[in-house]
Amino acid sequence: MTTLAIDGGTPVRTAPWPAWPPPASDAQRKLLAEVVDSGHWGATSGPLCERLAAEFAGRHGAKHGVVLTNGTLALFVALRAAGVRPGDEVVVPAYTFVACATAVLLLGAVPVVADVDPGHLHLTAGTVRPALTDRTRAVMPVHLAGSPAPLDELLALAAEHGLAVIEDSAQAHGASYRGRPVGSHGTAGTFSFQSSKAMTAGEGGLIVTNDDDLAARVWSACNVGRVRDGAWYHHAEVGWNLRMTELQAALLLPWLDRLDDEVAARDAFARRVAAGLAAADRPVAVVPQPAGTTADSRHLLMLRAAPGVDRDWVSRALEAEGVPVDAGYPPLGGLEPLRGLARALPAPGAEGAAATVFWLRQPQLMAGPDGADDVIAAAERVFGDDRAFPASR
Ligand SMILES: Cc1ncc(COP(=O)(O)O)c(C=O)c1O
Repeated sequence: MTTLAIDGGTPVRTAPWPAWPPPASDAQRKLLAEVVDSGHWGATSGPLCERLAAEFAGRHGAKHGVVLTNGTLALFVALRAAGVRPGDEVVVPAYTFVACATAVLLLGAVPVVADVDPGHLHLTAGTVRPALTDRTRAVMPVHLAGSPAPLDELLALAAEHGLAVIEDSAQAHGASYRGRPVGSHGTAGTFSFQSSKAMTAGEGGLIVTNDDDLAARVWSACNVGRVRDGAWYHHAEVGWNLRMTELQAALLLPWLDRLDDEVAARDAFARRVAAGLAAADRPVAVVPQPAGTTADSRHLLMLRAAPGVDRDWVSRALEAEGVPVDAGYPPLGGLEPLRGLARALPAPGAEGAAATVFWLRQPQLMAGPDGADDVIAAAERVFGDDRAFPASR
């Protein structure tokens, strides 16, 4: 019998995982040095933020792109530009990052937390419908972990009720649904370039849209209410300085050239792990995708332990084997700071996920076939131990 690493045995994996973010490429270093030398460090004088916005939007099937400080404010600005006002309600998923709710609160609007599908963990028409009232103005599908939300049914429901759809694509650069990139299906799509994301400059955000007027409002909101090509001290709207810097754009622009390769590498990893776990017949599986997924960008690899498994012991044991995992989100509606500010519907789907889901991050997903085999081997050991199943002991 092998001694598990949690009991002092030798871990499955001792080699380091790839760093995330990866070391800066030659193209990034060159562009960054050019910006530093130019002295045009801000977007009001340099060209790169505009180029990034245009190229990223083009890559994501959208007519317009606007770069800004981060993904949280991207949600705030997009919702506001879509007409959400104080007192309005915005439906957000119960299994997601807290920013989905706090961006709504920034507007003085009310996040209404609707459950997710217990299988693929996304909002569906069925989970959103009970959350709708005559104050609902928008719905925010989240392309969780790089997996596109089931947009067909959500867009149809939104059209039926006259709602804006803001696609939170913070975790889904390069993902696509029914052959079309995420972010460009709804009213607007938002992205994050925070450190853990599939494209990162440490921080940053971007909004894409096909709506000319909305794009103008978004740009103005991020540029102290100015009008594009207008006078410097002409402020047509209320707005803020939410601009990205040219230094960030220099890190992000070259990334567009390798995004597809990195998505493919992570997807290959995910498929190998899924197949390996299925073949070993262990009570753990990759969280499935909704129908209509054409590219899952695999920002995270979400795994789900079967009922009866002690997910927290499994997480500790995997970590000891050299495979770090994260226990994921608590249900959004139960977060203490949101009490009295958000309206939460019952969320058995999100509660189930919070108790059973765990995930691997970019460093593992970028580790190639050997890394995938280490994950499979570690799972084989850990799930082979009785302590993984306290319910049956
Ligand atoms: C789903 C989701 N939405 C929004 C955000 C907020 O993005 P940022 O951290 O850039 O503000 C994040 C990540 O951080 C996220 O994962």
